Amino acid sequence: MDSAALAERIEKLRDLLRNYEYHYYVLDQPLVSDNEFDTLMRELAGLEAMHPELISPDSPTQRVGGKARESFPTIRHRAVLLSLDNAFSLKDLQDFGQRIQRSEIESGYIAELKIDGLSIALVYENGVLVSAATRGDGINGEDVTANVRTIKSIPLKLKITLPRLEVRGEVYLPKREFVRINQEREERGDKIFANPRNAAAGSLRQLDPGITAKRSLAAFIYDIVFIEGDEISSQKAALELLTSCGLPVNRQYRACSGIDEVYSYCLECDENRHKLPYEIDGVVVKLDDIAARSLIGQTAKSPRWAIAYKFPAEEKETRLIQVELNVGRTGVISPTAVMEPVALAGTTVSRASLHNFDLLKEKDIRVGDLVLVHKAGDIIPEIIRSFPEKRDGSEQEILPPRHCPACGSNASQSSGEVALRCENINCPARLKESLSFFSSRDAMDMEGIGPALVEQLVDRQLVKNIGDLYAMDEELLSGLDRMGRKSAANILRSVENSKVKPLHRLITALGIRHVGSKTARLLCHQYRNINDFLHLDSAELTAIPEIGPIVAASITGFFSEEHNRDLIERLRQAGINMEEGAALQLSTALNGKTFVLTGTLESMSRIEAAEKLQSLGARVSGSVSQKTDYVVAGSDPGSKYDKAVQLGVTILSETELQDLLENA
Ligand code: IVH
Repeated sequence: MDSAALAERIEKLRDLLRNYEYHYYVLDQPLVSDNEFDTLMRELAGLEAMHPELISPDSPTQRVGGKARESFPTIRHRAVLLSLDNAFSLKDLQDFGQRIQRSEIESGYIAELKIDGLSIALVYENGVLVSAATRGDGINGEDVTANVRTIKSIPLKLKITLPRLEVRGEVYLPKREFVRINQEREERGDKIFANPRNAAAGSLRQLDPGITAKRSLAAFIYDIVFIEGDEISSQKAALELLTSCGLPVNRQYRACSGIDEVYSYCLECDENRHKLPYEIDGVVVKLDDIAARSLIGQTAKSPRWAIAYKFPAEEKETRLIQVELNVGRTGVISPTAVMEPVALAGTTVSRASLHNFDLLKEKDIRVGDLVLVHKAGDIIPEIIRSFPEKRDGSEQEILPPRHCPACGSNASQSSGEVALRCENINCPARLKESLSFFSSRDAMDMEGIGPALVEQLVDRQLVKNIGDLYAMDEELLSGLDRMGRKSAANILRSVENSKVKPLHRLITALGIRHVGSKTARLLCHQYRNINDFLHLDSAELTAIPEIGPIVAASITGFFSEEHNRDLIERLRQAGINMEEGAALQLSTALNGKTFVLTGTLESMSRIEAAEKLQSLGARVSGSVSQKTDYVVAGSDPGSKYDKAVQLGVTILSETELQDLLENA
């Protein structure tokens, strides 16, 4: 390709990709499959890697880049980012309307959803995103440009090129993403986010943009702060222009001629808010006519031409009847509140996780208490607080049990952990969870073995450990409730089929703490036979970039435990495949080559680089030795670089690495 053709192809790819991103993330109407999108993105990244001089910051490949920083520099906003006065009733809205009428202004209103996220100010120069800042104190905000660039619904380049456009909007976390992140945090023992707004703020204010990129933040833009190259006379026109620019604009706004119409819109939105995939906490009412805004002016804190109608808080009082204790797969005993049912945010709520006993004590919650409940992220029921002042003395404190509620063994709390655990590895409650997990889709994928069947198998003592699953026969199954010949045959077939699954499924199925299916796959790239796992040591594991000391200790701990080694032997006897097949290996181009990564890479994180190398059959190690084939050095490389020079190991630059990945 000559250089003109190359530049043309690159521009063409960028335009295509931008348009696909716009349809996917802004309009929610994908035009092409993920696969097609990825193929074009790879082609673009490949061309840019070979011709780094053609990389431009508004290219779709350039969303995640730059390294973690130590703090955020501040950006001074061109115009102070004001906040809004609140209205809580029709009366408050009417007062707002009357103040406007008194100024003899004749303009309608635009009512918009009030998105519950955090405010953001964006600057586009000649159509290209140049800066993004948080609200901060309204005068100065934090420069979060690198993080905002990772938000896919925010275009790096506008569809319309204006010399300058400064806008304001809201960054938020979709409800589902909030639930996902909290689940992950709870599993890891990290503190959970109280609501999507905190989670969005926590995700945006990450010093490492790579972390922000993994959080699926989204945004809506609702205001033009400054514009050069066009003029805007109304809020409606502003929203239309923002839309034409390709910015994400919430389309559910309504033009209202008077306050009564505004109020009925508010009631409608409150009624429907639970159906939205993101949280809203009210409606923002704005005077449509922009010229009229300057007539009516502003106070020190907020404009007089807009107001935020806040929905009533969705909290209800109810009574805590009982606390149920559940024992999970890893033996964690967790308390669940059973309450008198209440209607809350669109559903009836009667149960809520109490997370752990430390939290119960902290919140001073007792059985019989009147409690205040809400839904975190509009989804997960949670007790906010109790009302100690309303007690009559009959309430009972909830103490952590000393014994497992399922098997009576000792329950203990290891130091530094909030979780309380049953110490008995053969506890029937743990066993039920383990069996369900072992047979689940991501693990050994045994169709037909669900919680109901597991319950019977364990309660009747037909299955006492995982290995017994493979000893089941038709006779045993036919004795169970609701079990026909056909279902029994299907179950036995799916058990049989599970025997030939690749090793990473077995590693997942064993339910080692901190080892999900992703980590299991990663491990099985390197350790391809179960015997390799039996002799692992922590140092070797932590040499894999994704594996930290906690995960490594959990893995080595698991395989050194006698019970677990017995189980593996039993499974081996049952004829289960204990090797990773060739199927997982995508390519063998780098088979047997050992890589070490050092320094910061611009185009991808070290983890991504390691994953790509491993998918091509390479081994990625944490330390440089005689056996290392290549050291990839990003910017500011560490002592591994010096060691590589000393040992004469081949050193690759980031561009060379990209070439290698593209051409392998
Ligand atoms: S307009 C001067 N419109 O609510 C007017 N704000 O206190 C600036 N918000 O800080 C705000 N959705 O973070 C506006 N459609 C919307 C909004 C919205 C959410 C937030 C914004 C602001 C707060 C109001």
